[in-house]
Order: sequence, then C-alpha cells, then structure tokens
Amino acid sequence: ATTQDYDFVVKETPYSRLCDTKKILTVNGQFPGPTIEARKGDTVIVRVYNHAGKNITLHWHGVDQPRNPWSDGPEYITQCPIQPGANFTYTILFSEEEGTLWWHAHSDWDRATVHGAIIVYPRNGTTFPFPMPYKEIPIILGEWWIANVSEVIADALRTGGDPQLSDAYTINGQPGDLYDCSKPGTFKALVEHGKTYLLRVVNAAVNNELFFAIAGHRLTVVGTDASYTKPFTTDFIMITPGQTMDLLLEANQPVANSTNNRYYMAASAYSSAVNVAFDDTTTTAIVEYINGTSTSSTSPPLPYLPSFDDTDSATNFTANLRSLASKDHPVDVPQTIDERIIISVSVNVMLCPNRSCEGPNGNRLAASLNNVSFILPFIDILDAYYRNIDGVYGTGFPSEPPFYFNFTGDNFPFSLFFPRSATEVRVLDYNTSVEIVFQGTNLLAGENHPMHLHGFRFYVVGRGFGNYDKEKDPESYNLVDPPLENTVGVPRNGWAAIRFRAANPGVWFMHCHLDRHASWGMATAFIVKNGASPQARMLPPPSNMPPC
Ligand code: C2O
Ligand code: CU
Repeated sequence: ATTQDYDFVVKETPYSRLCDTKKILTVNGQFPGPTIEARKGDTVIVRVYNHAGKNITLHWHGVDQPRNPWSDGPEYITQCPIQPGANFTYTILFSEEEGTLWWHAHSDWDRATVHGAIIVYPRNGTTFPFPMPYKEIPIILGEWWIANVSEVIADALRTGGDPQLSDAYTINGQPGDLYDCSKPGTFKALVEHGKTYLLRVVNAAVNNELFFAIAGHRLTVVGTDASYTKPFTTDFIMITPGQTMDLLLEANQPVANSTNNRYYMAASAYSSAVNVAFDDTTTTAIVEYINGTSTSSTSPPLPYLPSFDDTDSATNFTANLRSLASKDHPVDVPQTIDERIIISVSVNVMLCPNRSCEGPNGNRLAASLNNVSFILPFIDILDAYYRNIDGVYGTGFPSEPPFYFNFTGDNFPFSLFFPRSATEVRVLDYNTSVEIVFQGTNLLAGENHPMHLHGFRFYVVGRGFGNYDKEKDPESYNLVDPPLENTVGVPRNGWAAIRFRAANPGVWFMHCHLDRHASWGMATAFIVKNGASPQARMLPPPSNMPPC
C-alpha cells in the first residue's frame, strides 16, 4: 500500500450551461472535480484549501475510514467546517473497498457541483474478478440549476416549501443534446468495435433517482458501491443518489456499412412519489465508434428508458444485485444480531407561525427518522463526544417508531405529522451486530429514500413493500449473498433491512441522500464506542481540526 496526495482548491469558477454563464463552486476549477485513484489498502492525503468564500467540508462517500472519523467530513457531525481562507488535510484510509466510489462536499448543498469519482483498484498482484476491460469510462450523473444552488436550499428552508427543481440532468457535467445551447459540449465516449469498457457510474444528483441506459447495447453489472456483484446483464440500470455502479459495455455493434456509428446514452428520473414534482428532463451523451464510418447527419438512436413511474422496472433491477461471494471476495453477513433498530422514514410538516409558510396548509415541510427531525448542532458531535462537551447532542434516538400502524395507509394520528426537532444520536458498543429496518411511510408523501450510512458498508438482507413484519419478513432474508452497499433505496411504502457489525469506533452520520430530505431532518448519527484492544480504538484527532 502506498500514499498519494492531492491538492484540492475549492473556488468559484465560471461555467456556461443552458445558455447561461454563472459561477459555480469547483475543485481546482474542474466540474465534475478531479478523480482520486487508489489501490485497495492505500492511504490518500487530500489538502483542501477553501477559497470558496463560504464554509465547506468534503466527504469520501463509501470509504469506511476505519478508526478515523476525523477525516470523514460531514459538517457539524465529525468536524467544524473549513472556514473561508482556511485549509484542512484529510487522510483517507482505504481498507476493504474495491471499485467505484466518489467524493463530495458535505456542507449545505455544495455537493451539487463539488464532487468527483474515486476509483479503487485491486491490490498490486490481484485483478478484477472479470476479464480486464480495454479502457475505463467514468460516468458521473448530476443535476444542474440555472439558479444558485445554495440559494435554492436556503430559499426552501426559509419559505418552508419544496425547493426549486433542477433545470437539467448532466452526464460528466454536460446536459447533452436535448437541452438548449448544450450540443457543443455533449460528453462523447469513443469506443473501438470489439473492445469491452468498464463504465464507472456515480449518481451525484442532488435529489433524484435515475434510470440510465445506452442505445443498442446491453450492460453487465459487475459491482456496486465498491463491492463486486454477481454479473448480470440488463438493458438499463436504476441508480439512487449516493450509489455507484460498475458496468461492462461491450462495443459490439456493427460498424461496417452501418448507417450509424453513434448511440446515445441517457438518464432520466425514476420518481416513486405520487404528486411530488420532479425534474422530468433527459440528459444524453454519445458513444461513438472510432473505427466506424461517421454519418454525423443522422442523429443517434435514444435508448429505451423506463417511464418515470415504472416502479416494477426499478424494483426488478435492484432485486438482481447480489454479492459476488467468491473465494477472493467472500461475504461476511452477520447471521445473528445483537440489536435490531426499526426506523420509520417520513416526510412531515412543522407548524409555521400564522400558517405563513409554503408547505401543506401553510406549514413548513420537514422530515424525520422515528419522528425525530435531526438538527445539526453548532459544534461537531465527534468533538463533543471526544472531549465530553455537554449539551451538544442527546443519545435518545429511539429504537422503534413512535407508533405501529399501517404505514402504507393514510390514517395517521395527528401528532405524527409533527416531528420533534432534536440532535439525537444512537450509541453502540464496539462490535455490536446491528440490524436496521427502514420502514417507509406515506405520512405526507410516500417516496423512495436512499438511506446512506457513513463509516460502514452494510449488507442489504431484505427489501419489501408494505409494512415490515417482525415475525415473517426475517424468514425471507438473503443471508447468503446479499449486496454490500453504502446507500440503500428504501422502497416507497415499503421497507429495507440492512446488517453490519459496528467494528468502527467513531461518529457516523446516517441520512437520506436526497438532499432536500436530509436538509429537512431525515438524519441521525451513530456513536460507536471504542473497543478494548488498541486496534479497536479511535485514532487521535489530527492537530489541525478546523475550529467552529
Ligand atoms: Cu454521500 Cu453523508 O453523504
Ligand atoms: Cu428521503
């Protein structure tokens, strides 16, 4: 294992999209930002210089950071933000991850433009569990707002209403041919007939699950969230914000005598909710055969993408994800659990003085886990925990929903609409074997929630629609080859069960990766205590932690 280092300067840079030029936050002027490349087991140092003119933090999404919460990044959870003009050095410890991950800002909604791919190659002397691809193509799916993104969320929180929708989706920062003023920049992947390419797909969109496909080609899924899967071939994928997918693309279309040597790849929303508005546009990029005869006058064919409300297609796709479970990549699913935490996941409302807000009935929109709407504290929880500072957080995050009822029905006690606002976390003993069951509700609007846990990858042992049944549903768990993920899509009006071993001491955030929900309080954190041995204890804080 080796150590590499990177300098990341976060600063405003002008970018032109959708017929408009504006300054966006970037790293080193790049959008999407630089790719971090490492090998399994490496350490990567990233020196971040904040020239953004606002507070900022960065997070290494899906990297477990064993014993090292200090460099995890979520603002006010594991660190105070890096203030304008200041800098902070992150130490990223790669351990078991192998495949594609990503990094992003973890302050306000800065991640809309401050993000990039992380590629973790196999250790020296080992290789992929599939034939060596000819080349790799990172595909970062994102969203673009004509408005200033920080203002989009600030406005929404001020008015209590829904945030403004994005104006485009993007592939590698470009909206693509179907949007105004976008043709010249459309991302193009050049391929050679007969070769196989590894697509490293990241869903960096702020608020939308996406379908993605390439016309004329099938895709073979070989990994998700930096863990290998049993290969399966599909016409399209569904990917939630936060997730990554590794796909093999065989450039196998005829090139000789073909009228077309270009194919669109495209992404559009999967929107599980009824009556929740979403950006319904389609982003495209081009796959072009370099050894073909170019007939650039014909427009490339578009792929088939399921319609935005095609839950069957989304569900069937997700159900195909299974861990590879090979000799070199074994699974280690906790077969028994010490603790089961059931968490209801809801969008709620909060009363607004004089009903002057823009949410339902003049109230403000909110969101919660077990009806606690999370508030970020003013000092980070990690520091408060480490130095025993009182009054920053409570440890009363409930292990059960406040009310068991038909979660998919409409008839809720009135009180459930109004969550309690608090900074409540859950404390776990070192090495506890934990099961979390996320239970979606349709309190205000049923919707999929991509729940993301920092500090761990977890096995998704079960998913289903309707109400979780504590007796019956565990019988249908997959404890043999469930997928190992860091972000799980909790189905609309359904549930998802995950298992992990809490063998990583620290403070670890957990939240919905739809930023509008996270901003409304759909979050909590776990404090995992130190174990007895020196290898089971948190590393000491670096000397340069930013002050609040
Ligand atoms: Cu991808 Cu808490 O984040
Ligand atoms: Cu959500």
